Amino acid sequence: MASETKGEGLDGVVAVVTALSEVDGAAGRLNIAGRDVEGWAARASFEDACALLWSAVDGQSRSSAEVQKNLGALRAKAFASLPDLGRALSAADGMDALRAAVGHLQIGDLSAGGAPFASAAPASSYVTAATAVFAAAWNRVRLGKAPIAPDPSLGHAEDYLRMITGAPVSAAHARAISTYLITVSDHGMNASTFAARVVASTQSDMISAIVAAIGALKGPLHGGAPGPVLDMLDAAFASRKGTEGAELGDNSLVASASRWIASELEAGRRIMGMGHRIYRVRDPRAEVLEKATLALIDAGVRTERLALARAVERAAKSALAAKYPDRKLEANVEFYTAVLLDAVGLPREAFTPTFAVGRVIGWSAHVMEQHAKGRLIRPESRYIGPPAT
Ligand code: COA
Repeated sequence: MASETKGEGLDGVVAVVTALSEVDGAAGRLNIAGRDVEGWAARASFEDACALLWSAVDGQSRSSAEVQKNLGALRAKAFASLPDLGRALSAADGMDALRAAVGHLQIGDLSAGGAPFASAAPASSYVTAATAVFAAAWNRVRLGKAPIAPDPSLGHAEDYLRMITGAPVSAAHARAISTYLITVSDHGMNASTFAARVVASTQSDMISAIVAAIGALKGPLHGGAPGPVLDMLDAAFASRKGTEGAELGDNSLVASASRWIASELEAGRRIMGMGHRIYRVRDPRAEVLEKATLALIDAGVRTERLALARAVERAAKSALAAKYPDRKLEANVEFYTAVLLDAVGLPREAFTPTFAVGRVIGWSAHVMEQHAKGRLIRPESRYIGPPAT
């Protein structure tokens, strides 16, 4: 069977050449269009990330203020389209809702009614704006509440959180959600970005490509892990009373976590948020998100989950090292995504749609890049069925 499947999955194959991001799995570095994610994500705005990635493709200079103005206007436009979405937002799963809602967009709408969206990369701006509006609206509808209209004067990340929670967003929360969305904005040739590029390579349109990417992100091997990470933290400490007061670095938490991890591994289950196909060290995005959660705690936000997560990470790292001495399995981005998004007040059902709200910057930039210079992506298959008769 091994020879039959050899080459399947395209491991190690360079499928596209890109100026957008580079993942160094051995060193644990992520370079997003010339910015090291570890220093950059905690300082930049969502609009900075859009400007950086879109301009890396088309070479046009665009200021963050210009991006903010465009995204604000396009969020309002996407919100006005909610009545046309039919049953899309009533889907039980947020990614099903997002796929259906984004599928309603038509790039032709951008030219209707004149000039306000005539800046460069309008399709990228439109789909980026609409993804946040639809993800937030789905979460409101799910809870039986009315969607909240965007505030075009706000930064995109802050407005996304406000449209979900319905409350004003503190500076600390706005910083945290921005850091998250930027951290996940692009990541090499991951499955959803590849799906978007395959569609774009046929010279199909931006919306069709983004719909394909949303479908790929939904799967648990890609964007579906952060919700289960929270489930895991709940399960690991279910029998332990009083974790509300958990302190960072509490060794008794590690002892509790170790017992739970051992029983999970014994039962043959995987530890969510640990391991990565490319990274052979700790995922650098885990570090960024862990620090962002610490910054929230320093700003007075109460969450005991960081202490629990650190304990589970320590316990899991040492148990996995003992079980797989030749394969480094460390925390990946999803581990601290769960902790951070929970701390800013997002429900776990909204975690994967929120991933899409950040990753759509990269998807749209990749579609632009593929349209500009890409070649039709068309690999081969190896037939193992019966000969033709
Ligand atoms: N918990 C327990 N065992 C794990 C593990 C985990 N999180 N990740 C990998 N392993 C085991 C595998 O079962 C395999 O063991 P086996 O040889 O006995 O079958 C071994 O480690 C080597 O794993 P490998 O096949 O090289 O990993 P991969 O590259 O196929 O998988 C992931 C990468 C991310 C899919 C995998 O680590 C995983 O499932 N992690 C948990 C889910 C997750 O966090 N997903 C989000 C990714 S960003």
